[in-house]
Amino acid sequence: MAAGAVPRHVVIVMDGNGRWAQRRGLPRTAGHQAGVAPVRATVQHCAQRGVEVLTLFAFSSENFRRPPQEVGLLMKLFLDALGREVAELGEQGVRLRFIGDRSALAPEVIAAMKKAEKRTVNNTRLQLVIAVAYGGQWDIAAATRRLAAGAVAGTLVPADIGPEALARELELGRLGLPDVDLFIRTGGERRISNFLLWNLAYAELFFTDVAWPDFNEQALDLALADFAGRQRRHGRTGDQVETESC
Ligand code: IPE
Ligand code: IPE
Ligand code: MG
Repeated sequence: MAAGAVPRHVVIVMDGNGRWAQRRGLPRTAGHQAGVAPVRATVQHCAQRGVEVLTLFAFSSENFRRPPQEVGLLMKLFLDALGREVAELGEQGVRLRFIGDRSALAPEVIAAMKKAEKRTVNNTRLQLVIAVAYGGQWDIAAATRRLAAGAVAGTLVPADIGPEALARELELGRLGLPDVDLFIRTGGERRISNFLLWNLAYAELFFTDVAWPDFNEQALDLALADFAGRQRRHGRTGDQVETESC
């Protein structure tokens, strides 16, 4: 990808809600509540900037380890936001999709997700992927299990299993979505936290101290500008990349 390009696929680890609230003397849950509005704004800004796919990490498989009240509130916020926002997102041309382990979710959450997918299936402006009950290691293990089942059933032979075959079985591959171009993490931590481990192989990483409730158009543009200035080499030399983009 040439310098100055807009990333096709942006992913965001929306982190820092709890600390944002604690700094204000509020309960952690107030931070989660304040984290809903920036989702709406970020979707709009990404669509305006020409991003094709935006994947948001809403709840990790490891987040089930949090106190039950916090898990319950996060699920309720997710369910409420889906109920409230889907019509509007649909009108904006956004297609909603989900990745993660649905078997870990409550039936009403699964039903709301299916409804949102169905309602927005014909939209093409921006694909919004929400990762819920998602873990990168779970994703790779589940894909491997499906490939192994195929080998046992005789629909493929082990020699067919390479990076492409595995990528097609991963959550993003199953939805026909491209690998990640730009990874953004808010909230100050510099780690991946078991997000899209495989699909981040050649993503550009951008970490910001801005907490998710404060993330806005300006903060997104900083990340996009940083991305535009990077040279992506995918293993080649800088000279090779420059020659090819001439
Ligand atoms: C991100 O904010 C939201 C989820 C992980 C669900 P946190 O709740 O992790 O906020 P901090 O990192 O504790 O500040
Ligand atoms: C990652 O944030 C998951 C989400 C933002 C949904 P965490 O707050 O759970 O990550 P750790 O625990 O600090 O690594
Ligand atoms: Mg956190």
